[in-house]
Amino acid sequence: MESEVLIIGGGGAGLMCALVAGRRGRRVRVLEHANRCGKKILMSGGGRCNFTNTGTTPANFLSANPHFCKSALARFTPAHFVEMVERHGIAYHEKELGQLFCDESSKQIVKMLLDECADAGVRVDTSCSIERIDAIPGGYALQTTLGTLSAPSLVVATGGLSIPSMGATGFGYEIARQFGHAVLPTRAGLVPLTLTGRPLEELAGLSGVSFPVEARCGRTSFRNAMLITHRGLSGPSILQISSYWQPGQPLRLDLLPGRDALEFLGDQQRNRPAAELKTVLGDALPQRFAQRLCEIALNNKPMRQFTPAELKKMAGQLSDWPVVSSGTEGYRTAGVTLGGVDTDGLSSTTMESKLAKGLYFIGEVVDVTGWLGGYNFQWAWASGNAAGLAA
Ligand code: FDA
Repeated sequence: MESEVLIIGGGGAGLMCALVAGRRGRRVRVLEHANRCGKKILMSGGGRCNFTNTGTTPANFLSANPHFCKSALARFTPAHFVEMVERHGIAYHEKELGQLFCDESSKQIVKMLLDECADAGVRVDTSCSIERIDAIPGGYALQTTLGTLSAPSLVVATGGLSIPSMGATGFGYEIARQFGHAVLPTRAGLVPLTLTGRPLEELAGLSGVSFPVEARCGRTSFRNAMLITHRGLSGPSILQISSYWQPGQPLRLDLLPGRDALEFLGDQQRNRPAAELKTVLGDALPQRFAQRLCEIALNNKPMRQFTPAELKKMAGQLSDWPVVSSGTEGYRTAGVTLGGVDTDGLSSTTMESKLAKGLYFIGEVVDVTGWLGGYNFQWAWASGNAAGLAA
């Protein structure tokens, strides 16, 4: 066999796996169906690629088996990736909450990975489609637009379903099923929520307004900015909670995060008795939003006229505002795909299939999904490294 390791998918996970296996002296070939590698890296982080998060822990990932990601993450940490970034002279900065971004461009990350692959002797083929995969004695044979290719190790790094226009396909899930793996139901994550009917009408004209909230679903909550859009809600707090929310589940917002709403309203009543509620709220929230709240749900009047019971009720509303979302914007705008290849069928140390020797699944195609903030790339690097050391 001409190659020892064939990798389907030239995204972050595939390239990381390729360079690690290549450094071990393996003959590695990456097969990418798009016309270039790393398209999602290029568009990530607003063109600056949030390439890792220094605070990465297994708790930042969703998976049916929350323990699965531990081993790979422990063996390839954010510091390992930062070491490579620094070795390539790429300037970076921390934006917030441990999120590291390139100062200049995400193109530098793609170039770094491709340079590392070239140094390690990896062959990268773009615009290569795979028509069929068969298990053969001692490995796998692929019918491709570049002819029949075979290798003892086959790594599936085809990513998830988000942003189909960037080359996303469900091919990885098909391969998993072909070799007997379970694929857990997939859905869009890190995705804006849509509103319809009255909830959407109530926010009419506020598109572009942004402010900090705490978004809560079940026992999970995220405190960060929320953005009102012309279709519903977005912004980091909403994108984060979207991965935990499913239609029909209650979703609630604390509109005054970090403050005791009753204490705030009580203080305002004592200190500004003549001020109207909308003015008082307009100091704590964007004025247009505060005014709208008073029009749609709260009773606007001078603070002195509120009874203690009314203040208490209002404090409850402000700190536990229900959101009636109709759904999400779907894969078209999703940052990630939740679900995917069931980790029960994979080794957590090597990412190798327990059912088919020499077959590996890495990156987003696997049922491991990170929060917003560089965690998904860290999973791509870490799982790619794990398979690259084994394949
Ligand atoms: P990825 O999708 O990157 O790569 C899969 C590759 O396989 C693609 O190149 C694709 O073309 C190829 N492929 C698919 N089907 C194929 C087939 N049949 N044959 C051959 N090749 C095939 N994360 C983060 O940590 N920080 C960030 O800043 C961002 N920003 C961001 C922005 C946007 C707009 C999106 C959509 C996503 C992010 N993410 C992110 C998430 C992150 O991009 C994602 O989790 C990783 O790219 C996943 O890496 P993979 O290599 O697993 O898949």
